[in-house]
Amino acid sequence: MTEENDVPCLEGPFSQDVESVLISADEIQDRVRGLGRRIDEHFAGKDLLLIAVLKGSVIFLADLMRAISIPHEVDFLATSSYGVSTRSSGIVRILKDLNEPIEGRHVLLVEDIIDSGHTLAYLSRLFRARNPASLEIVTLLDKPSRREVDIDVFWTGFSVPNEFVIGYGLDFNQRYRNLPFIGVLKPEVYESIS
Ligand code: PRP
Repeated sequence: MTEENDVPCLEGPFSQDVESVLISADEIQDRVRGLGRRIDEHFAGKDLLLIAVLKGSVIFLADLMRAISIPHEVDFLATSSYGVSTRSSGIVRILKDLNEPIEGRHVLLVEDIIDSGHTLAYLSRLFRARNPASLEIVTLLDKPSRREVDIDVFWTGFSVPNEFVIGYGLDFNQRYRNLPFIGVLKPEVYESIS
């Protein structure tokens, strides 16, 4: 996160909604390549399965897969929290479960962001009960200031402040996922809707 990103060159239909660029597209790509190399080393010779939590992680997953050179497979999981109050209680509903069993496999959970930690705490418990050979977590973003439960994260792309971040898969009201960078949403955008 360099200073020059505070003065972003914003273009496109959403540019008026973005306060600033927190992490540029180039910085993301550099970091993802680095994560890919570490994953290659760590899982060399192992039966690696990437599990992405829909929807936010799909852009990260797509780039991360191409930064990993060892053979691997992917599977997807869709979750839904029951809103703010139930999320803080740690209840996560599974909308779409995995297609394949994970028993005996080396699983890497791929997330776009860890906020309270409840989603990953729940999924870690769920998956450990299915007896994988190993279970690790890689997240592009981490918001440690919002953590409510401890999460053992193996790799983190970037630690971010407590701002409303959008882009590179992250949404507000299902929009902005297609931005190639991580930006901060202008407060007037979410204040006008919520
Ligand atoms: C986001 C993110 C994580 C979760 C993190 O998903 O992708 O799955 O929230 O929050 P937590 O640490 O407080 O549990 P979201 O529910 O926004 O759905 P989306 O991925 O479809 O945007």
